[in-house]
Amino acid sequence: MIVNIISLCYLVAVVLFIVGIRWMAHPDTARKGNLTALWGMVLAIAAAFFTPGLENIVLILVAMVIGTAVGLWMAQSVQMTAMPQMVSFFNGMGGASAALIGLVEYGGLPGHEIGRGSVLMASVILGSVSFSGSLVAMGKLQGVLKDIRVNKVLGFMLLLSAIALAGYVLTADAAHPALVYAVVLISLLYGLAFVYPIGGADMPVVISLLNALTGVTAATTGVLYDNKVMLMGGILVGSAGLLLTLLMAKAMNRSVLDILFKSFGSASGAAATGVAGDQTVREINQYDTAILLSYAKKVVVVPGYGLAVAQAQHIVHDLEKALAEKGVELIYGIHPVAGRMPGHMNVLLAESDVSYDLLVEMDNVNPQLPSTDVVMVIGANDVVNPAANDDPSSPIYGMPIIEVSKAKNVIVIKRGMSAGYAGIENPLFFLENTKMLFGDAKKVLTGLVAEVKNM
Ligand code: TAP
Repeated sequence: MIVNIISLCYLVAVVLFIVGIRWMAHPDTARKGNLTALWGMVLAIAAAFFTPGLENIVLILVAMVIGTAVGLWMAQSVQMTAMPQMVSFFNGMGGASAALIGLVEYGGLPGHEIGRGSVLMASVILGSVSFSGSLVAMGKLQGVLKDIRVNKVLGFMLLLSAIALAGYVLTADAAHPALVYAVVLISLLYGLAFVYPIGGADMPVVISLLNALTGVTAATTGVLYDNKVMLMGGILVGSAGLLLTLLMAKAMNRSVLDILFKSFGSASGAAATGVAGDQTVREINQYDTAILLSYAKKVVVVPGYGLAVAQAQHIVHDLEKALAEKGVELIYGIHPVAGRMPGHMNVLLAESDVSYDLLVEMDNVNPQLPSTDVVMVIGANDVVNPAANDDPSSPIYGMPIIEVSKAKNVIVIKRGMSAGYAGIENPLFFLENTKMLFGDAKKVLTGLVAEVKNM
């Protein structure tokens, strides 16, 4: 009876996860979706406590209290700009848990149980790769780790050795706990070798792939424990992560296989200096920018990571309202990998109540740019870099960009001439129709709103 009730709770939990994910697909319902999935998780955890034969309840409760406290503290204290790093960290913790569970369960594995043993080894390998890979991704997003070239053959050999060793452990006559630790170690090394060299435009794809990996490890752990909610939850995360990986790769015009196995090279290319050859940038002041904006018919704002750093999402909405009062049409051009996490700009602008209808995806905004009077690039760099179209030696070559240079006037708001995430020079800043408005995005936009209102 109790087992049936637990199964029913798990089923309801899975339905709540699915409905939650569905609702998360739109900003209007995203908050509701998040809460719905949360209640699904609460139900699943509560039901698990009634599993017949459950032991160590006090230890489980202590671990839950510690985990909840740390999670709450991190989620409340993290800066919005550090959110992608935190997500990577949590993702890595999921992988580590799966690997640890695999280690613990190996002790209780009866010899020659190939089916269960293979699932266990998959948990150990994938969980370890996801753990070390996610920590490197976190360090790179934080800017404390740089791309390091790793020979792709070496990386591949590490993965093959981990799989071969796992195969040996599974088929050996005696138990070999030390070798399982060796599988963990080699897999951890492979996670480092996998993510360290990937830079430039490829990081977003790798981050979603690591998410998918952690989902798969949750699913394999679900198989180990015959726990259906873990299995289905893992499959949901794994398949959503895989879909996101494919969509990201498509949006970046990259092949996932190329990213994983071919382009094991770090970002290269000219570093930003402010002077390209004998060219220098042209500056504009706030007053002249306000005139350009106020007398424009159509303005396109292209937001990037710097908008998030400056927390300028509310003030850009104020500018949009001030211009609307003057009859100027303003829309936002959204690049799929602007910022540091999928949907970053959508989340940021939704926070300041910008209407969702004004957010126009890259493919739809590009054809509108030749008839646009002013494009304002705010804290964006790589996603508007024409080298992606024109320079085959650029690490971002082939990545679709928002082609802002096609507009009549381009104003770039940033603090100086620093490069973006890919660490490369941006020829856009030196074009004839581009003017630089230097300063922190929030400060500059605050001044612009005042100027526009005075006009
Ligand atoms: P970036 O190319 O990273 O450029 C951001 C620019 O913002 C910088 O050049 C910086 O220049 C400027 N900035 C920083 N703080 C600012 C402030 N307070 N006020 C004004 N400007 C400021 O950003 P992007 O164009 O959004 O491109 C995203 C990059 O991140 C891509 O390379 C993408 O591949 C990578 N990436 C994306 C993701 C996802 S999923 N979105 C994940 C990992 C990596 P100054 O310092 O001179 O101001």
